[in-house]
Amino acid sequence: MQVTRVSGALGAEISGLDLSRDLNEETAGELRRLLNEHEVLFLREQAVDPEQQRALASVFGPLQTHPAYGTVEGLPEVMILESTAEKPSKIEIWHSDMTFRQHPPSVTVLRGMVIPEVGGDTLFASMTTAYDTLSDGMKTYLEGLVAVHDFAQGFRESLAEPGGRERLSDALSDNPPVRHPVVQVHPETGKKALFVNALFTAYIEGLPTLESSALLAFLCQHAVLPEHTCRFKWARDSIVLWDNRSTQHKPVNDFLPAPRCLHRVVSEGDHPY
Ligand code: SIN
Repeated sequence: MQVTRVSGALGAEISGLDLSRDLNEETAGELRRLLNEHEVLFLREQAVDPEQQRALASVFGPLQTHPAYGTVEGLPEVMILESTAEKPSKIEIWHSDMTFRQHPPSVTVLRGMVIPEVGGDTLFASMTTAYDTLSDGMKTYLEGLVAVHDFAQGFRESLAEPGGRERLSDALSDNPPVRHPVVQVHPETGKKALFVNALFTAYIEGLPTLESSALLAFLCQHAVLPEHTCRFKWARDSIVLWDNRSTQHKPVNDFLPAPRCLHRVVSEGDHPY
């Protein structure tokens, strides 16, 4: 395996590995180690099938399903993230995946299926770098603060569509708001990471409304400063693995009317602490 870092904050391209053939205990251990070091890994020309993608994600823990996305037939853990001219993607905002869950994913594995000729890159930001670059005073202030994350906030556009509330009624009742620390400690590296995002984090507990929204606005802006980010240009069969506990991401929706489709599998993490 060759490892090439792609930016100062996070991200590495991995070559010399064929995941359709080489996924064994040793490779899995190496991928876990590299992910802890680089937070997001980019692999190209990986012609894995959906079962193999699922096997890859399960290296990082038991798999989770999503309450709102369509999935590959017979494989409920393989979500289809599709954007077309008729039904453009609603994923616009920086986020970590599914923080509306009590146990948000530890690792996400995303595979390029239909990739536009131009545009549709994904941006990533390191939440450990975002934490490290806060002032000591701010770090002390954030210590012990708890934020509420809410499915209903992240899916508010879908809920507002005609019939949306009915379509998502099970998802809503199965996913009440949850509490997570504003700064979480990574269970494997012990590093601290900022753990609020503009998509799902609704408010910070115990603060007056204005103070909570001003603090969240600052933290979400600081989190994704260009110096904390890297950018990935997709091709069909690219695979990206990211540590969902220590990163945020956002697709760049600049490719319409071309279609774009990715398959996503997530493994479940611990409850953040
Ligand atoms: C996601 O938010 O999981 C998908 C990112 C992307 O479509 O690039």
